[in-house]
Amino acid sequence: MLNGKTILLIIGGGIAAFKSLDLIRRLREEGVRVIPVLTKAAEEFVTPLSVSALAAEKVYRDLFDLTDEAEMGHIELSRAADLVVVSPATADLLGKMANGLANDLASTLLMATDTPVLAAPAMNVRMWEHPACQRNVAQLAADGIHFVGPEKGMMACGEFGPGRLSETPDIIGAIRAVLTDGPLKGKHILVTSGPTHEPIDPVRYIANRSSGAQGTAIAKALRDLGATVSFVTGPADVPPPRGVKVIPVETAKEMKDAVEAALPCDAAVFAAAVADWRVASESGSKIKKVKGELPVLTFAENPDILAGVSQMEQGRPTLVVGFAAETDDVISHATAKRKRKGCDWIVANDVSPSTGIMGGSENAVVLITERGADEWPRMGKEEVARQLAHRIADHLTQV
Ligand code: CTP
Repeated sequence: MLNGKTILLIIGGGIAAFKSLDLIRRLREEGVRVIPVLTKAAEEFVTPLSVSALAAEKVYRDLFDLTDEAEMGHIELSRAADLVVVSPATADLLGKMANGLANDLASTLLMATDTPVLAAPAMNVRMWEHPACQRNVAQLAADGIHFVGPEKGMMACGEFGPGRLSETPDIIGAIRAVLTDGPLKGKHILVTSGPTHEPIDPVRYIANRSSGAQGTAIAKALRDLGATVSFVTGPADVPPPRGVKVIPVETAKEMKDAVEAALPCDAAVFAAAVADWRVASESGSKIKKVKGELPVLTFAENPDILAGVSQMEQGRPTLVVGFAAETDDVISHATAKRKRKGCDWIVANDVSPSTGIMGGSENAVVLITERGADEWPRMGKEEVARQLAHRIADHLTQV
């Protein structure tokens, strides 16, 4: 989807500038042409040679370079791309952008461009939280500048808090969201996927056979229609999709916390096979084998994440989609489950071993809505995902 696009990448002068090398490499893997621009300060952190080598392009550095002006003037350069990405966007660059300063090549390009701009801020936490910086960010957001991050975490300077540059896949996800023009553009959709692992002790756990294939395919299909996707996944067999925000979890409780942290969203699809129970008697140390004795496990009920979100009194997503894995009376059980949990739709499937659906590549689903049951023919999980994503898009664009 990014294949054939051109990005003007403005690299600011911060410790996170080195991460722009990874960003260039990954964007090129996706078929993107990256035209790099280095600020003077950025050259203290990355060399023009390494940037140029990775981008396979000339690096633009100076406003008053007459050779560059003869080759490609700064106005032309600022408009040669589908998107301008500023990464890392330092406090200084954000300040210049917000106040219309144009005293070097990077700030001049940002003033002269008529293409969308995405900024990935990175700086010390105190600088990010400073009222001056927050004023600038609010002004830039009002001017239509897109933002990704910053993330919370340990900083290079040893402090903790918001200010870390977003991870490369998240920046690419944000780029995709800005450049995609699908029916779900501007919509935030949450997808849960995969199994959960419920620990017995530090080395043993209880799990299920979910591979995460259906949830992953749904996240991809929603992304391809332009949605911004938060993907909360248990330990799955299949790798998470690119271009979505991946939040890895292990247990049902962690999944619930991650889902709550990812809200609000326009729609939520609960494809995860969440363990209904966890081991209440979880041992902090490895349970030892004692001759003649069998360990006794006691269980506690896990929170029902789907029911919790479906029954939210405030901030409920417009559309909540649950899954039902059944082995008999699929339609009647799933219809009852839709009512009991309070979700809008249920995607029901027969997971009897003879169907080969759980862990397999195909699925035969019944979509249960307020209008009744719609049986879909057996098809690949990718195709189920595409059709479901289109139904979701139709629903969200109608309401
Ligand atoms: N689900 C959830 N949290 C749980 C259990 C399930 O969010 N603790 C979600 C699943 O992601 C799925 C739906 O609920 O979307 C159906 O889960 P399922 O286990 O089939 O339903 P149960 O309510 O557990 O009913 P039963 O076990 O009786 O089939």
